[in-house]
Amino acid sequence: MRVAAAVNELREALEAGPRGSVGFVPTMGALHEGHLALVAAARARSEVVVLSIFVNPLQFGPGEDYDGYPRAEGRDLELAAQAGVDVVFWPVTSEIYPPGHPGMVTVSAGPLGSVLEGGARPGHFDGVLTVVAKLFNLIRPDHAWFGQKDAQQLALVKRMVTDLRFPVEIHACPTVRAPDGLAISSRNAYLSSEERVRATALHRALFAGCAALERGTGAGAAESAMAALVSSEPGVTLDYARVVDPDTFGAPQPGGAALVAGAVQVGSTRLIDNLLWPLPGGEEA
Ligand code: PAF
Repeated sequence: MRVAAAVNELREALEAGPRGSVGFVPTMGALHEGHLALVAAARARSEVVVLSIFVNPLQFGPGEDYDGYPRAEGRDLELAAQAGVDVVFWPVTSEIYPPGHPGMVTVSAGPLGSVLEGGARPGHFDGVLTVVAKLFNLIRPDHAWFGQKDAQQLALVKRMVTDLRFPVEIHACPTVRAPDGLAISSRNAYLSSEERVRATALHRALFAGCAALERGTGAGAAESAMAALVSSEPGVTLDYARVVDPDTFGAPQPGGAALVAGAVQVGSTRLIDNLLWPLPGGEEA
């Protein structure tokens, strides 16, 4: 496995490695089972697997956890090597955002970037898409893998690839969960043991929303069921509970899938999660 800290090292590593299709997994490090599932999917269908580790300052707002975001350098490299990664791109910030460029050009996520997560975190998706676009341009992958847990990020990356015509195919991997349902996330490291138990309220709320949809209630009633479950859990505050179309984030379509999504605050930790749920209806057979 080669580790590249600079763009020229990345180019050398890609040129020195085997030829063939390049699979890419972008991460912010603190690797966990969710990331390793993405790497396994990339390994299964690519000749060359590239993993990036970069805590991207542009996607953190003022007062968010950029400085405290978990960083686990040595362990990440061990896990990447064990998972069969060929090249780790681990740039210093100045390699991605060279200093002395005021008024830098960035990618705008457009209207889909300002709802749900984007409503709570203004500018977040512009920052995500800008760094993903830069990484795509540097690595030139044929395929890239993203987790379903960050459903809005996934939808926006697909949208960017279509709209800006990046020659890369985007793949999603299902959310990896702990046995009690909590979605695996680097931010789970912030939770105390008591908060860790309470945090399962988010997953339970998503199921309450899906159960409401299954009973045939509309999206609004499902959202209320989710909100009611979260408010019954002490120490957990609801940010949003929404049932939307997974691609447009508008009203879900009968016969399609609904994205049942939520965000909660548990102590000082913000957690997000979602489930995809099939809706009845659509065309008669
Ligand atoms: O999902 C993440 O870890 C980040 O948003 C990504 C895609 C690596 C961009 O910084």
